[in-house]
Amino acid sequence: MTPPILRRVADLRAAVAGWRRAGEKVALVPTMGALHEGHLSLVRRARAEAARVVVSVFVNPTQFNNPDDLAKYPRTEKADAALLAPLSVDAVFAPAAEEVYPGGHATTVRVTGVSEPLEGAHRPGHFDGVATVVTKLFGMVQPDVACFGEKDWQQLQVVRRLVADLDLPVRIVGCPTVRETDGLALSSRNVRLSAADRARAAALPHALRQAALDVAAGDDAAAATGRLRAALAAAGFDSVDYAECRDAATLGPARPGDPARLLVAAWAGGVRLIDNMAVPPEG
Ligand code: PAF
Repeated sequence: MTPPILRRVADLRAAVAGWRRAGEKVALVPTMGALHEGHLSLVRRARAEAARVVVSVFVNPTQFNNPDDLAKYPRTEKADAALLAPLSVDAVFAPAAEEVYPGGHATTVRVTGVSEPLEGAHRPGHFDGVATVVTKLFGMVQPDVACFGEKDWQQLQVVRRLVADLDLPVRIVGCPTVRETDGLALSSRNVRLSAADRARAAALPHALRQAALDVAAGDDAAAATGRLRAALAAAGFDSVDYAECRDAATLGPARPGDPARLLVAAWAGGVRLIDNMAVPPEG
């Protein structure tokens, strides 16, 4: 059944209040729409976590540091609703920008430390926008559980830090990255790749996996990420924003004995792709 689409915070709150009165738990899957199998896997996980599932669909302007990227971000509401229909979603919350950021809005949530390197360094203000909208969505929906993809690994760590630091009563569930058969992580941005760039994009997960295996086997991380960069250049990537081995939770320098993560952002044909992998890779 096509889920009801709620545009107003008041309508959302009324629906959630009814469920709570009935003693039902609520799970939130925050998205920016342009849904794909990766999002649907989050929704399935949310279904397993709570009796009621809300999917938010909001292209959050404050997290785009590049106006062109915001303008080009795919908006596919009808297709999104059709994809959600078989998954028994209880409500889609799809507010207008003015509903989320009414005139006079003057608060920004900033998570320091974990938000600063990597994506934070290359997309100034991005995580302020994410932290602000996620805090607002948590206030609006008041979920017991919220599901986020590991594809945006740094975002997941920023949200975990935010929830811990602000004592927010929501449990964060990280869900594994969903990949195409050639390994490319699903992303709403993949549709922008030309056929040639889509073919070369498969080099990213392969090079990442090789580097994660090399580091796990004791290789120097800088040497392994150097080979990763060289493999991407050889495959025809335009440039690499970063390729780093970091502490998996803090995104600071990797520490011996603590879980590490390899994270990459690279450009192919004007499309920025990000991916990450555990050291050693899972599965
Ligand atoms: O990952 C995303 O799609 C967005 O950053 C999120 C969490 C929905 C906040 O706008």
